[in-house]
Amino acid sequence: MIALEAFAKVNRSLVVLGLRPDGYHEIDTLFQTIDLSDEIRFEEENRLTLSIAGSAVPADDSNLVLRAARVLSERAGGARGARLHLSKRIPVGAGLGGGSADAAATLLGLNALWRLGLTAEELRPVAAAVGSDVAFFLCGGRARGTGRGEKIEPLPDPPDESLVLFLPPFGMATPEVYRALDAGPVPDSLPPRPDSSAMPDRNDLEAAAERLRPELSSLRSALVSQGAVSARLSGSGSTVFGVFRSEPEARAAAAALGRREGVRALVTRTLPRAEWRRRALPAAGNEPEGLKP
Ligand code: C5P
Repeated sequence: MIALEAFAKVNRSLVVLGLRPDGYHEIDTLFQTIDLSDEIRFEEENRLTLSIAGSAVPADDSNLVLRAARVLSERAGGARGARLHLSKRIPVGAGLGGGSADAAATLLGLNALWRLGLTAEELRPVAAAVGSDVAFFLCGGRARGTGRGEKIEPLPDPPDESLVLFLPPFGMATPEVYRALDAGPVPDSLPPRPDSSAMPDRNDLEAAAERLRPELSSLRSALVSQGAVSARLSGSGSTVFGVFRSEPEARAAAAALGRREGVRALVTRTLPRAEWRRRALPAAGNEPEGLKP
């Protein structure tokens, strides 16, 4: 049996550079792993099965865990089985990459359980085939994502940050937010590609998400009024997160803000890459070449 933690992310910056001929958007984003995780257990079994606790997400073929398992088993040259159990803690439709993190953990876990010996470099295209964000979750820490978000450049860890996640009682569907962006006002000119050492404190999906759900903008203002040095939407939402100078400040802000109706405030922190590696990768000897500490 193998058990892995699948960590969530926030986007510290997300610039949309334009719509591509394939229907995806060219983006330039800063991903950051945070200390909030799901857990997946992998056991030997002839058939491929998935059970889920902690959430009503369906355990059918729309689930990224099963999609990742199928793509990997094809890559390995034939149908293989495993019993997978997912304990969900990362909210769904929240812009925290929960489904993508689970998919990446599935690739890491099954690569070990099935003794495939695929390297990180070999797993990356498999991850990108499952979803635009999945490749980031094979890297962890802080990284820049370009293309659809699947081209990953690992960056050094920033100083630790305390975060307050504001979780509204609804989720957002990523394609819908991108459609709202395309239907919105056309900018005079496309933004220039940012310099990786100075990514802007901005999320270009915010305005579109706030047109669909105007209450999101008041959540951002509330975080700023509680002293957040930055308050942004994560990915396509619905999570709005604030960055605080210290954990006590984050706790105080969460206590003040958590009383809003239907909104859950959660205090967390950024997770450095070394800690991600220790907690997210299979035990020594089973981690993919290229990801070993
Ligand atoms: O790649 P993934 O399946 O996660 O993307 C979900 C949807 O989000 C895509 O079908 C597309 O509508 C939108 N998307 C996009 N541009 C990106 C990433 C996602 O338009 N860079």
